[in-house]
This record gives sequence, C-alpha cells and structure tokens, in this order.
Amino acid sequence: MTKGISEVDVRGKRVLLREDLNVPLEGGAVADDTRIAAAMPTIQNLSGRGARVVVISHLGRPDGKVVESLRMAPVAAALSKELGAPVKTAPDCVGPQAQAAVDALADGDVLLLENLRFHPEEEANDPEFARQLASLGDLYVNDAFATAHRAHASTVGVTAYLPSYMGPLMERELDMLDEVLQRPRRPFVAVLGGAKVSDKIEVIERLLLVCDAILIGGGMGNTLLAAEGFDVGKSLRDADLGPAKKIREEIDRNAERVEVLLPEDGVVAKELKPDADSRFADVGEIAPDEMILDIGPTTAEKFTGVIEEAKTVLWNGPMGVFEIDAFAAGTEAVGDAIAASGALSVLGGGDTAAAAHKLGFADKMTYISTGGGATLEYLEGKELPGVAALRAAANA
Ligand code: 3PG
Repeated sequence: MTKGISEVDVRGKRVLLREDLNVPLEGGAVADDTRIAAAMPTIQNLSGRGARVVVISHLGRPDGKVVESLRMAPVAAALSKELGAPVKTAPDCVGPQAQAAVDALADGDVLLLENLRFHPEEEANDPEFARQLASLGDLYVNDAFATAHRAHASTVGVTAYLPSYMGPLMERELDMLDEVLQRPRRPFVAVLGGAKVSDKIEVIERLLLVCDAILIGGGMGNTLLAAEGFDVGKSLRDADLGPAKKIREEIDRNAERVEVLLPEDGVVAKELKPDADSRFADVGEIAPDEMILDIGPTTAEKFTGVIEEAKTVLWNGPMGVFEIDAFAAGTEAVGDAIAASGALSVLGGGDTAAAAHKLGFADKMTYISTGGGATLEYLEGKELPGVAALRAAANA
C-alpha cells in the first residue's frame, strides 16, 4: 500500500471491491441500511472515477450452500436506490456467469456478485477460489471492516493475486478506533451492555487498562450482579458465572484507577412483552419470577452523571430491551447524555447502532462503526486478519 486507492488511476479498471453488505433482511427487503450507506461513498467514488466496480460480499451464514432467502438481490435493489443508478447482479460470484457479467461492464458501472458464502471455499480461505475471485478484477480494494476479523478467501486469500488496497471506510473505522484507544481525551468512559459477559471478557480487560470509567448494563450487568451474589430472577444472564467472577476480580484489582459502575436498580417485569406490567426494583429486591429488562432511574442518573463529564465515550451494547418502548428509557438516557456531553463518541455493534437510529440520537454521535465482532476483536487488541493481509501485501 505504498499508494492509497484514491491516488490510483482506476478508469477502465475492474476493481474487485470487498464490502460488508451483510445487512438484516425482513420480508425479503433490507431492514437496516446502515452498512449500505457506509459503503456508498466508496462505491460512488470508484464509479465516479470510471472504474468498473465489482462488489463482493457475504450475506448471512448459508454454510457453503445456495440458500434462496440469502441471495443478494434485495441488497442490489437497496444499493441501486442509494446510488441512483442500476446495480447489476450475477447469479454466482465466480465461474462463467460471473465472468460474463464482469465482461459486460462499462466504465463507471457497478455490479454486485452473488453471496460469497454460497461456496464453502470462501470461509475455508481456499487458494483456488481466491484465485478465481481475483481473476474478476485488475485490483482489489478491501473496505469491509466489519468482516476483517474473518480470514476468508475474499478478505485474505485474494490479496495474494492482485494489487491490494485498503478502502476508505476501512481506513476511517480503524482511525476512529485508534483515536479512541490510543489518544483518548480524558475522562474516557466506556459504556458496555448487550447479552454476554463471556463474549466481552477480553474487551473489558483491555478497557480496564485505558479507561477512566466503565458503565455496565444490559445482560452483561445482570451476569456481573449474579456473580456478586444478587438474585437476578429470570433475567438474561450467562449460565456460567466463572468468566464474570474473573472479571470482578480484575475490576477490584483496578478499582483505584478505574471507576466501574454496575446497575443499582432496574425496570423489571415477569414477561418480555410490550404490555407487560413492569416496576422499578433495586437489585437486591428482584423476585425469582421477574427479569431485569432495562436499567432503572437511579442507575440511569448515575451513568449519565459520569457521561456528562466525559471527553471520550466508547459505547458497545444497549442498556436494556430498547426494541420495546417500555424498556428503552435507560438506553435513551445514555444516548442523550452522550449527545449532550459534546464528547467524542464512538458506537459499535449492530444493536447499539440500531438503538441509536430508533431512539433518535444516531446523528449526534461522532462515529457509528459498522463492525460487530470486528470492532470487539479490534478493541481486544487483536490484529484483524483482513487488515494484516492488506499490510503484508503492501510490504511484499
Ligand atoms: C458481522 O455481521 O459481524 C459480519 O458481517 C461478519 O459476519 P459473521 O459473523 O457471519 O462472520
């Protein structure tokens, strides 16, 4: 990568562009277009400079077989709409039909090939499959930050066969996360929620080293409370409390340096449904047949008090079941406090992004990452294989 893709003359060239267009579908249409919107500037830029843009992506987890409901057609329709120009499709991502579709492209055209994961060779990072993909381009651009934690043919293998460049979205994602992790303005506050502690152990360990405060709600909060000995009733929590107990010890070890807040109260109900009777309860007073579905008002006030002082906020995971209005107040309070704080704010994870859009504070955040697992692995300090492959190709 001695040159960035923006410095390369791409006119008339076939650019094999890996994007992460793994978007949620509902009723055969794209339900959330965050990743499509994030990929659009790269696609527009390449097309506007006269490249023949060959977009490749996976969609869902078809496990190496053709799954009709995971075809890329709805994604192509959404791309066409955003682009304001037709996006062509092909019934496969390699082989004669893909080749014919690429051959038919004129300068500036955009083609979306079929789901990469219909072929088991994609996830196996099979060199011959990578070579076939590479044969459809003159150069390769990887802009799929959200898939960079997967060592697949389209993210790693293909770099062995084509001049390879990092796309602008991937660059921006890495820059934002680096700015937060390496040069945070202080106080630096992390807000963590979502389902499982076991998924985020290494993230918490890393954040304990760099943050001034960590606020934990959602299912993670429930698990940590259970590990402290509280009865959290039927609340969503990890069955195995071992990892949470380990994290508790780490939190205690770092207590002088990092303030870690857990929920003190919650919004609890016996059923997870919009019209369920709910009440506020302190964490010591939850009945065995109740579950915590949101942080309570005392917790929200404490969390927002810490956020008000923050200069940098990293947020991954909602505070409760924000999809249901009765259990969205905690997530909304946190989002509003981040917006009001004026802190540099970076959100990661699909649920957190969805909450930001639903609850109306998305456009007040500094940056919303397209990554889920990739963001977490980067926060853990791991090298992402997709990024490593680009760097290795640049130095080759
Ligand atoms: C994601 O949604 O996190 C990425 O698209 C990767 O998908 P995967 O977890 O199925 O590999």
